[in-house]
Amino acid sequence: MADLEKVIKVGDLQPGEMVRVEVRLNPVLLGNVNGEFFAVGNTCPHAELPIVDDKGTLDGNEVQCPYHGSVFDVTTGAVSQGPAAFALQKYSVRVEGDDILVGQE
Ligand code: FES
Repeated sequence: MADLEKVIKVGDLQPGEMVRVEVRLNPVLLGNVNGEFFAVGNTCPHAELPIVDDKGTLDGNEVQCPYHGSVFDVTTGAVSQGPAAFALQKYSVRVEGDDILVGQE
């Protein structure tokens, strides 16, 4: 069972938004896709740069790295478009009351 920690409140992330959070000191991208929360690593595997610095907007279930244009599916971490060759790490997400909890799978 994943060890989850509270990151933000449910009301802090609207559908279509994403935010950078930290889980056990690791940078994580938390996104709200149509009211469902998903979390993946926030470090682009192409050149090890951050995908989102603070808050941003998703394109459906996808996020584009601002550096060289790689696109990832935030629901799975999979690469939709290169140059990145590797997927983002996927994290577990659970909602408990008002809180969103995230942890490594
Ligand atoms: S660092 Fe993300 S596409 Fe290059």
